Amino acid sequence: MRISFSQAVKSLNSGQVVAVPTETVYGLAASLKFPNSVKKVFTLKGRPQDNPLIVHIADLEQLKNLCHDIPKNFSKICSFWPGPLTVVLTANKKNVPRVVRAGLSTVAVRVPSHPLMRRLIKKIGPLAAPSANVSGQPSPTRASHVEADLGSDFPVLDGGVCRHGVESTVIHLLPVGWELLRQGALSREKLAAVLGEPLSKSLKQNKRLLSPGQKYRHYAPKAQLKLCISQKQILRLAKSGRFAAILGFDDSPAVLPLISLGLRGRYSVNLKRLYEKLRQLDRVSYINVLVDLDFSDLGLGATLQERLSKAAGIK
Ligand code: TXA
Ligand code: MG
Repeated sequence: MRISFSQAVKSLNSGQVVAVPTETVYGLAASLKFPNSVKKVFTLKGRPQDNPLIVHIADLEQLKNLCHDIPKNFSKICSFWPGPLTVVLTANKKNVPRVVRAGLSTVAVRVPSHPLMRRLIKKIGPLAAPSANVSGQPSPTRASHVEADLGSDFPVLDGGVCRHGVESTVIHLLPVGWELLRQGALSREKLAAVLGEPLSKSLKQNKRLLSPGQKYRHYAPKAQLKLCISQKQILRLAKSGRFAAILGFDDSPAVLPLISLGLRGRYSVNLKRLYEKLRQLDRVSYINVLVDLDFSDLGLGATLQERLSKAAGIK
């Protein structure tokens, strides 16, 4: 159910949960002032209790209230804000409810750039929001996806189709440097160039996953996806008669119905279409689908490879 901006403000200010647009994907938002509403977010999504939420803020003033130990070279990070970068910092536990952090001593924060979301945060204050999908489903990149997942009566502030269409990149500062916790709409290369150092990819510290979300299956359509690393493999498997379609690019082999992510190698366009196309596979009820994974893992190609692999249940 589409709601107006003023209805969204009123609902969030009275402790209700509302789906909101961001430049990455739609979020399921609750005000930080209402920890019980944050609990509702977990229930609505069917999200495991040990998977913390990102807090969306408007500016550095809000950041200072939520975090301790803001790193010295933080201005480099800030050059990506507003935008699709999430940073995990030491939480000021007094100001970040435990339920948001899932009991961790850290908090993930980002400054979104979508104008409606920015206006909302300026009016209401920080908003905790995971992606607005039912856990395990592809993230929603338009209002109709949220309604498909949470029901047509669920309140959604419609901000159009998300510009990036894939989640933010998540990083965490270790004593030895920055660590990449989740690939996303900002490429590892762009980040490293500005930070002036490479990012490590280790996901574990003290045998505990630093980003709890990494251990759950994600972005999964109902169809079984078979990843193919070459055109030859696609041609061979297509002949077996077991596959109904190809999820690929405009120039993928025309041997089965094609669901195209656009021109091969245009990763930002490909990512923007990805979740809609994964949802389309479900609407058509395909059972077995070939995926054209014959592209480079440089830049946002790495994010596309990672999301497609997760959608196929790998990693
Ligand atoms: O683009 C995005 O990031 C979207 C929009 C709505 O902002 N949000 C999003 O949230 O993707 P979610 O909850 O679907 O994914 C957040 C990820 C999860 O993998 C979670 O485990 C991780 O961030 N995370 C959150 N707080 C964390 C923390 N304190 N330490 C480590 N990882 C954290
Ligand atoms: Mg999510």
